[in-house]
Amino acid sequence: MPPAVVKNVADGLSKALSDELQRWGLMKQTGVNLKYMMEFGSSPTDKNLLISAQFLHKELSIRIARRAIELQNLPYGLSLKPAVLKVRDWYVDSFHDLRLFPEIKDKDDELAFTQMIKLIKVRHNNVVPTMALGVQQLKKDWHPSVTPEDRPEIHEFLDRFYMSRIGIRMLIGQHVALHDSDPEPGCIGQINTRTSPLQIARNAIEDARSICYREYGSAPEVKIYGEPNFTFPYVPSHLHLMVFELVKNSLRAVEECFMVSDEDVPPVKIIVADGVEDVAIKVSDEGGGIPRSALPKIFTYLYSTAENPLNENYDGESVGAIMAGYGYGLPICRLYARYFGGDLQIISMEGYGTDAFLHLSRLGDSQEPLP
Ligand SMILES: Nc1ncnc2c1ncn2[C@@H]1O[C@H](COP(=O)(O)OP(=O)(O)OP(=O)(O)O)[C@@H](O)[C@H]1O
Ligand SMILES: [Mg+2]
Repeated sequence: MPPAVVKNVADGLSKALSDELQRWGLMKQTGVNLKYMMEFGSSPTDKNLLISAQFLHKELSIRIARRAIELQNLPYGLSLKPAVLKVRDWYVDSFHDLRLFPEIKDKDDELAFTQMIKLIKVRHNNVVPTMALGVQQLKKDWHPSVTPEDRPEIHEFLDRFYMSRIGIRMLIGQHVALHDSDPEPGCIGQINTRTSPLQIARNAIEDARSICYREYGSAPEVKIYGEPNFTFPYVPSHLHLMVFELVKNSLRAVEECFMVSDEDVPPVKIIVADGVEDVAIKVSDEGGGIPRSALPKIFTYLYSTAENPLNENYDGESVGAIMAGYGYGLPICRLYARYFGGDLQIISMEGYGTDAFLHLSRLGDSQEPLP
């Protein structure tokens, strides 16, 4: 464990640590992309793993230092909220661990380093709900008439912050996964060169429907259309997360729309299109759509029409999957799509239903977004 340091925005960090953070936070970040990760990871020799660890030793220090600094300089006093201080501490501790780690020279160093970054990843597991709690703590200070549009800086910060988190976790996860001596066929670390969007969609649907059952006692059907044998290189866990969030939203909309109706419940439809540049996935429902006035809010982190599941007693431990309520599903889903050069759009017809268009780049060569 790193020695205890005084960590409070008001008091400041220890001078030496604070100077180190500033120094590293100013250095340039280096991006990677899917194609590069596949090429590099296709020969996970000891030499390559050593190179990867040496790169991460520096790169993670830079990325984490940037986030720690930003967490200390947020507008509206967000930095001082207890949950945000906690998140800041995780970033500072991880930065400290990285800088305490000596130069990586051989295989033993590399293995010890891999263990250490694995623990860093675990430390940061609950950053998203904890930050959400921090924003909620801040929201309490505001007049109820203040809307998310009045505070675009908060939204922009969270977008940067979570995008950076996706990148950091991808880098760590990939390095750790390359140590697997018996990978599944077609897998290069966390990337599956033969990811089947239909298969992933089926799993995501099952997960989303079982939560829907728990919540409502029933779940609308979901139909999938697309070429069953089609595969492309992607990170299955990212794809699962995106489809899961979109299906969850559609199931909820349909449930709420048809709760008191005698009509047949219309199925949710998923269409997978395999283009040359893009794989597009449309999640289409007849759940009543979204009013046009609400559309600008659906991608903000402060907006949900469901009851908020977090309360002040939230202890930073992981929370179980729920149907809806954080208001994080869509913005996070869009970040995952954009991380590898894709995007997410929502088109609604109020009174009828919603189409979510998920576009994923097949080329894998788009530059990593580096906030
Ligand atoms: N398919 C849909 N049909 C109708 N409304 C939708 C649909 N998808 C999203 N919405 C609206 O957009 C809001 C934001 O969606 P988002 O997924 O970001 O958050 P959430 O579902 O409320 O909570 P969670 O973070 O748990 O997903 C929802 O609360 C809902 O009002
Ligand atoms: Mg949602």
